Amino acid sequence: MEADAKGVPICLAHVEGRYAALGNVCPHRQGPLGGGWIEGGAVVCPWHAWAFDLNSGKAVAPAKGRVAIYPVKRVEEDLWVEIPQESAV
Ligand code: FES
Repeated sequence: MEADAKGVPICLAHVEGRYAALGNVCPHRQGPLGGGWIEGGAVVCPWHAWAFDLNSGKAVAPAKGRVAIYPVKRVEEDLWVEIPQESAV
């Protein structure tokens, strides 16, 4: 799903009880990763199916580029995403 943290567009994923927060903007042509799907431990962009590893943010197919990974934790009913100061808008 897509979200916003301090003005930074985020892709949030929940896989096997674990949460991941990645940059939402695909480095290929700026597709919304949060509108994609999960496949083999990667989020797949809905526009042209580039895939990015949920742990490292590295592109896995094709292996070009990466997206940011942000620490995320669940606090009661909320998800807290840690955005570095230089990334906040
Ligand atoms: S915009 Fe994401 S794969 Fe092309």
